[in-house]
Amino acid sequence: MAAEAKDFRIERLRPERLDDLVEAQNQMFADYIIPIRSSRAFFADFLRSVGGRFENVLTAMDGTRIVGYVNPVNDGLEGWIGGIGILREFRGIGIGTRLMQAAETDLLSKGVEEVSLEVIEGNDKAQRLYQRLGYQGTRKLLTAEARPSRFQGFGENPKPAAVSDILKMHQRAYAETCWQRRKPDALVHSARGAECFRVEGGFVLLRTVETNGFIPFLGVLPEKRRKGVGTALAKFALSRLHDLGAYKVVVYNVNEDEPTLRMLDMFDFKVTMKQLEMKKRL
Ligand SMILES: CC(C)(COP(=O)(O)OP(=O)(O)OC[C@H]1O[C@@H](n2cnc3c(N)ncnc32)[C@H](O)[C@@H]1OP(=O)(O)O)[C@@H](O)C(=O)NCCC(=O)NCCS
Repeated sequence: MAAEAKDFRIERLRPERLDDLVEAQNQMFADYIIPIRSSRAFFADFLRSVGGRFENVLTAMDGTRIVGYVNPVNDGLEGWIGGIGILREFRGIGIGTRLMQAAETDLLSKGVEEVSLEVIEGNDKAQRLYQRLGYQGTRKLLTAEARPSRFQGFGENPKPAAVSDILKMHQRAYAETCWQRRKPDALVHSARGAECFRVEGGFVLLRTVETNGFIPFLGVLPEKRRKGVGTALAKFALSRLHDLGAYKVVVYNVNEDEPTLRMLDMFDFKVTMKQLEMKKRL
């Protein structure tokens, strides 16, 4: 008889099974739209950056084998699904649905009222799963790439800053952005490997990994917008990344709104990936 979702136990990740989970994740995401190869350190790092915890991860078990997982994250009244995956041969029998329902029950018990998640455009299976469960698209998030170049004169003079100097600014500048950009953990985590600069009313983080440049954060306080501060910070960051030897520069998960699109256009960024943010009230 074919397997059914009810044949699989759902349980919390036991600490000694962490390596097995990472191994399973690598199989689950081997045919994913963007290649993701995890490791114990990578997963730990990701969890830290989104305020997640190993012990909140739920797994679907076939005997002792991990065949699926979901990673619910909570913060006050808000929850976020930080990843779900099912081994290919166990898909299409309702395990994903059960795991999502278990994650929601878990989040609800922690006082969460609204859950969000992101799905890459084109991942129709996942999007259908979320829609069936009552999630609705709220906005698009973009990943974009450009070539860094050197600009003369920024109109501002960004100064090196410690992450503690910009936490408050981040909170206000990123209030309307997605989970992975909005949470203080994300900023603190990114700042570890990045250079961090501030001006009056704005800040930027930048980093290189080999010849790839990244601008993980660029924020301007609401009342300082439309005065050229963001443009100045972008010019500064692109020049700095150019000087650091970056061949390309990537920005992740930026809101698809008019000011952001204008800014991306100004610096010849090309969109390489779109994600749909979805939300559900529990
Ligand atoms: C997306 C993903 C998690 C879905 O998991 P899943 O276990 O296959 O999900 P379900 O089985 O609950 O639902 C999938 C399909 O099976 C169908 N189904 C659900 N229960 C069923 C059952 N008891 N019997 C038969 N079919 C069933 C659903 O109707 C759905 O059909 P549809 O795709 O035509 O809408 C899985 O495809 C996956 O791991 N993909 C790779 C990683 C990934 O994309 N993760 C999401 C990132 S945002």
